[in-house]
Amino acid sequence: MSMTRGEGSLFDFDKMDLSQEPPQAEPARQYYFMAKCRKWVENFKQENGRIPTSCVTTFGCQMNARDSEKLRGILREIGYAEGTEDEADFVIYNTCTVRENANTRVYGRLGQLKPRKKKNPHMMIGLCGCMMQELEVVEKLKKSYRFVDIIFGTHNIYKFAELLSTRLESERMVIDIWRDTDKIVENLPNQRKYGFKSGVNIMFGCNNFCSYCIVPYVRGRERSRDPQAIVEEIKRLTADGVSEVMLLGQNVNSYGKTLDTPMTFAGLLQEIEKIDGLYRIRFMTSHPKDLSDELIEVMGNSKKICKHLHLPVQSGSTDILTKMNRRYTKEQYLGLVERIRKAVPDISLTTDIIVGFPGETEADFEETLDVVRRVQYDSAFTFIYSKRTGTPAAVMENQVPKEVIKNRFDRLLKEVQSIAAKACAVHEGTVQEVLVEDICGHDPKMVTGRLSNNLLVHFYGGKELIGAYVDVLLKECRGFYYIGEMKGTAL
Ligand code: 5AD
Ligand code: SF4
Repeated sequence: MSMTRGEGSLFDFDKMDLSQEPPQAEPARQYYFMAKCRKWVENFKQENGRIPTSCVTTFGCQMNARDSEKLRGILREIGYAEGTEDEADFVIYNTCTVRENANTRVYGRLGQLKPRKKKNPHMMIGLCGCMMQELEVVEKLKKSYRFVDIIFGTHNIYKFAELLSTRLESERMVIDIWRDTDKIVENLPNQRKYGFKSGVNIMFGCNNFCSYCIVPYVRGRERSRDPQAIVEEIKRLTADGVSEVMLLGQNVNSYGKTLDTPMTFAGLLQEIEKIDGLYRIRFMTSHPKDLSDELIEVMGNSKKICKHLHLPVQSGSTDILTKMNRRYTKEQYLGLVERIRKAVPDISLTTDIIVGFPGETEADFEETLDVVRRVQYDSAFTFIYSKRTGTPAAVMENQVPKEVIKNRFDRLLKEVQSIAAKACAVHEGTVQEVLVEDICGHDPKMVTGRLSNNLLVHFYGGKELIGAYVDVLLKECRGFYYIGEMKGTAL
């Protein structure tokens, strides 16, 4: 991890009276348990002459990445030091279950942890996240993975300290999974990966029920955070050095519908735009059916919203889209793209595509290729359809044979890559403002910055540039990133 930042604790642990019953109200209750776990860490230090280490490993999407930052924040308050996965005393896997292979990876990694736990008597293993919301997963863990210490789900991540405290007192496997929740607990600690940018949850859950997707079952019903709480969090973040935020939600375009005083996503963006010290606003994910003209207008007029829109199409065939329960047609999607391009001409568009949904014919697949060619995506995430038990698509007839899917997948990937390389090359020779994010992974004399349109550029520079906005000449396009040259510090 290159840099770690966090928002400070709201409670004074030294003044907490642990002989009293824990408070009922949140987040005070969790700070009480953090204080209890701190005592345990103190004992550990005295007995072992070292600080216990922890490591949170994230599988899946940005929503999970943000949840992991919350877990790290709690661990920091408790007094754990950060370690690497192969040596930490406490390893936590924040899991994903969107496709079958996400689950397979977790079981594989767990198998590797078992012998380590035998060697290290202090070692603990925690599992949380989307995969834990599946009943059969927890049954399997209870039966065949008894060495796991703590299991919790997506709805009660805020209770991490309480669950850890229970585990430390009971020495037994602690399992706490909720089916759903309407609760949002604010003001818990947080440990950001980057000092200058941060994800910000604006809503949780999903009500769309696309027929292939497990997310509504594991992340529960849609709940929006109070706009005031979002704005205040972003103000705190900017005061702490953040200049770019990524607003996170399963379907940000339906933000605010469930609030007591309903508010649109476009309205929320306008409030966020007013925050001083904030320079870039990103968001994901957008569902095409809910993307309003109001939002397009706000994007067109904004100085801070980045020139990038991730707009999952999933399939180009209206027939398949109907079976997927996406609630838009191919023509409606293309019409939307046209309106967006008109309002924001230099926008970069990216997408998600599923190949091999049940009943997908060659003609359906050709429609997907047609959309890819017409939209000219800057990049696309392509997925092989994965059958998720419990979703309507899992029991649909005409599941597509593996060889057919593989052939379509390869053809799609080729098309996507050649279009993306062309789309990327368009900016070659221009000077663009980038936010420097890190030392370049390939060459330590270079740094990596991100353009407003989400593309990356590597150029010569030192680590003092991290977090700064710099003007960079995009000298050479290398498919999906650039090699550039710094032209001056913009900010
Ligand atoms: N199989 C394959 N891909 C899926 N996705 C969601 N569910 C499935 C599934 N069952 C993809 C969608 C979504 C992205 C996050 O994952 O394209 O947009
Ligand atoms: Fe995976 Fe979906 Fe959960 Fe994200 S919300 S971690 S993509 S299952």
